[in-house]
Amino acid sequence: MSTAPKTLIAGNWKMYKTEAQAVELAAALSAGLRDSLPEDREVLLLPPFTALKAVAETIRGQRLFLGGQNFYPSAEGAFTGEVAPFMLADAGCTHALVGHSERRHILKESDRFIAQKTAFGLQAGLHMILCVGETLDQRTHGSVENVLKGQLRLGLAEVNKDGVTPDRLTIAYEPVWAIGTGKVAQTEDIVAAHDLVRKTLEDSFPHCGDKIRILYGGSVKPDNAGAILALDNVNGVLVGGASLQVDSFTAIASAV
Ligand code: 13P
Repeated sequence: MSTAPKTLIAGNWKMYKTEAQAVELAAALSAGLRDSLPEDREVLLLPPFTALKAVAETIRGQRLFLGGQNFYPSAEGAFTGEVAPFMLADAGCTHALVGHSERRHILKESDRFIAQKTAFGLQAGLHMILCVGETLDQRTHGSVENVLKGQLRLGLAEVNKDGVTPDRLTIAYEPVWAIGTGKVAQTEDIVAAHDLVRKTLEDSFPHCGDKIRILYGGSVKPDNAGAILALDNVNGVLVGGASLQVDSFTAIASAV
């Protein structure tokens, strides 16, 4: 039996930071986390594409991982404006996001496209972080369970289930209404959603569903990170706004 993976603190920089700004932040984070990051945690940075290579060089040899925010599920081809998983790996990435609510809702990505990306990214050797989460309207209508189960089932539909291991797949629960709003979900809502995700993972992956990490995302800040990280089935956090400043992200990464 494999041991449980470390708690993952991930910073999604979204469409922020020039290359120079990204390098400055990555260097400051490396220095700040060198001594303060607890042994049982790991940190993942998700800069925009244009800063990946420079950030990879900046964090080389440090306890920080690098990931891509997106890719197209093909090895190469005539896909104007897109980037292949192998190109992410070439730039130094070990991880990638899929199914983020901004891509589902603003870029109109379908569950089927998300499923293709999850499966292709895994095949290409990336550690995939599949994001799921309900809108406020879906929560108000009592559909949280259906939405989360549906997004998980569809998002993982094309994955070779036997080949999945906890060091290759992570789920992030990000309630859409909590992203960038300052409205963090209530403790009982986070616990209920993570419990539901855990049970679905245990059904889908009987060999390792109990060890696959489930991150919480949505207005995670230094003052709530410790309490969120202490909840049942919360195995890390996916941070947006607060990951863009060295002080706040360092405080979240070392929060107890
Ligand atoms: P905020 O932390 O800014 O709410 O963003 C969360 C998020 O979308 C991380 O992927």
